[in-house]
Amino acid sequence: MCILIMGVSTSSYSSYSTIPTWTKSRETHKKVLDAIDEFGRTRKYLMNIGEYKSKTVVDLIKDRKPQVMVELGGYVGYSAIAFAAALRECGGSVYYSLEKSPEFGKVIVNLTDLAGLGNVIKVVVGSSSDSLRRLHADGALTQIDLLFLDHYKPLYTQYLKICEELGLIKVGTVLAADNVIKPGNPPYLEYVRSSVEKKNRDLAAISEPELKGNPNLIYESRLVEGWEPSGVPNKVRNEMNPDHWWTLDVAKNCSEANGGLAQTAPVAREPY
Ligand SMILES: C[S@@+](CC[C@H](N)C(=O)[O-])C[C@H]1O[C@@H](n2cnc3c(N)ncnc32)[C@H](O)[C@@H]1O
Repeated sequence: MCILIMGVSTSSYSSYSTIPTWTKSRETHKKVLDAIDEFGRTRKYLMNIGEYKSKTVVDLIKDRKPQVMVELGGYVGYSAIAFAAALRECGGSVYYSLEKSPEFGKVIVNLTDLAGLGNVIKVVVGSSSDSLRRLHADGALTQIDLLFLDHYKPLYTQYLKICEELGLIKVGTVLAADNVIKPGNPPYLEYVRSSVEKKNRDLAAISEPELKGNPNLIYESRLVEGWEPSGVPNKVRNEMNPDHWWTLDVAKNCSEANGGLAQTAPVAREPY
């Protein structure tokens, strides 16, 4: 059954229309995800998190039961739909999808409405740095329970530092960062795995750092790896193709040194 038609040009997804042949239910979101997966397999490759990797984050949501989730990079709304459905199921209240492109922003709004998740997902268009600051200044965002980083890799550390400076990272906040090994993001991995002492040393070595973050936060970081055979065109599908190998780093803020919950132990590396 064709439930979704997206108007596609070579570089944009400017319009879409729907054939609403099914009624909305709590399972509606699965049909929308299936349609996006099918589109990616048969029409045009989409840079969604995809079916397999998203299960890892959904399991994380079931385990952590976040109230507030934020994603950096929304694209066409696949991850927002998959994760906000799980968040709603676990009693969570809001999922912020931060997307730079106004064009993709419209697609996310339309598809998340179609998925029956319009009341949970708030789409915020603009650079994530501005959006985070604005949401915080407006009082809409005071803490993040689960942060999904999936936009421009060189900005992961910078935007995490913005969240830290705004006080959005609390004890227990979990960060799920996509593609940290391939294409790779050594500075981000180094940052979340550094000790408080090293982060403070690095900071002291820069005369006027643009962003300080909060070097006293201590994260436990673990790598999740897998193969993604979905979301790629049928003709190039191959489960063991190295192009389809993926990684996700999951880091949990376990404490803040010198803070109310002081714990100045070295950074923990064990999986939690
Ligand atoms: C890999 S896609 C996100 C895929 C999406 N999370 C999913 O799995 O369905 C990356 C997205 O990040 C957006 N992006 C890039 N830089 C950004 C920034 N500074 N702030 C917000 N979004 C950004 C791009 O426009 C693109 O839509």
